[in-house]
Amino acid sequence: MIKKIKVEQLRQGMFVQQLCGSWMDHPFWKKSFLLDTPADVVAIVKSKVTELYIDTQKGLDVLPERSDVGDTLPLIPADENKLPVVNPVHYHVAPVSMEAELGRAAKIVNKSKKAVLSMFQEARLGNAVNLESMGTLVDEITESVMRNSSALIGLVRLKNKDDYTYMHSIAVCALMIALARQLKLNEKEIRDAGLAGLLHDIGKMMMPMDILNKPGKLTHSEFDAIKEHPLAGYNMLLKSNEKNQVVLDVCLHHHEKLDGTGYPHQLPAEKISLMAKMGAVCDVYDAITSNRPYKMGWCPSESIRKMAEWTHGHLDGVVFEAFVKSVGIYPVGTLVMVESGRIGVVVEQNTESLLLPKVNVFFSSKSLSYISPVILDMASAGQQDKIASREEAAKWGLKNVEQYWLGNVKL
Ligand SMILES: [Fe+2]
Ligand SMILES: [Fe+2]
Repeated sequence: MIKKIKVEQLRQGMFVQQLCGSWMDHPFWKKSFLLDTPADVVAIVKSKVTELYIDTQKGLDVLPERSDVGDTLPLIPADENKLPVVNPVHYHVAPVSMEAELGRAAKIVNKSKKAVLSMFQEARLGNAVNLESMGTLVDEITESVMRNSSALIGLVRLKNKDDYTYMHSIAVCALMIALARQLKLNEKEIRDAGLAGLLHDIGKMMMPMDILNKPGKLTHSEFDAIKEHPLAGYNMLLKSNEKNQVVLDVCLHHHEKLDGTGYPHQLPAEKISLMAKMGAVCDVYDAITSNRPYKMGWCPSESIRKMAEWTHGHLDGVVFEAFVKSVGIYPVGTLVMVESGRIGVVVEQNTESLLLPKVNVFFSSKSLSYISPVILDMASAGQQDKIASREEAAKWGLKNVEQYWLGNVKL
């Protein structure tokens, strides 16, 4: 469908059918094109163009004002349909190094864990939950992610079996924030995305504990029971007076798939909102990179490679591409070998190139022994070494690899 939109509604992934105004008002020589890079979005926003036509069949649509699937869902009273008026949020934060952010991020994670734990306990008792305090938490997580996204996102990957659901909620919150920023969403949308991530699995609290914590593969009937959690969560949020449509939508639709085989509504791709597609990508990434009682988590880099295969049918390709840009091809914590045969962990991303992170090498694959750790900056001019391969810690008998990027920071 061809739709006229204002330049403020523009987002990466849209297909531009035509820019309104003279060709001299903008730097694009093609009339119609897919808006697939952040640089192109910025170029249009900075040009004299104020309105344009998009084709929603060839690219992303504008973000919905409210969920457009209300006919299949419990209805929210009409007078509550409008988004609540919130003060604009301004995240004025300067980027800092991983080292500078890790300690601060660990404190925020610990504080968030306690808050989410007590909120979820209320939900488990069937009580309406106090969602107001969650906004402040999301602001703190957002500021940490803006200062250095790898610190908090790296920390929340380190879960144990007892805190999985709480840490998963914080992880999806942080991943949603990083992804929303990568997609050039505005501050209100970034905050909504974070809040939606934090609350997306609140319905798990209404699921039987023995199924939720089962240390093994679920049977068909157990899986059917778990599939109730999006709707249970949605109803819990309504009961708790949550009116934010993004939060409600992501909670209900983060398990929908583009090919219409997801749950609970088997929505086709065009009925799944951008925020729900973002929720699906962040949810899957955190689930597969986390250690569970029945399986070890995949390494972050291997997970990115596997997820790329799922962009046909399950995950949205444009959203996934932005996600990769936000966490990196070699996310922090990835074990790699460099061409000289040394093995180390990625300790910091390079904002200019996803392929040139900083790596702390500590093991020699030639002598099969530990060496004095050295940080190699793959982007530095004199750097001769290059990343040769991803590696499995178990293959080399390496333990406690985390210490090489965490330093003394503990959760
Ligand atoms: Fe879920
Ligand atoms: Fe989840």
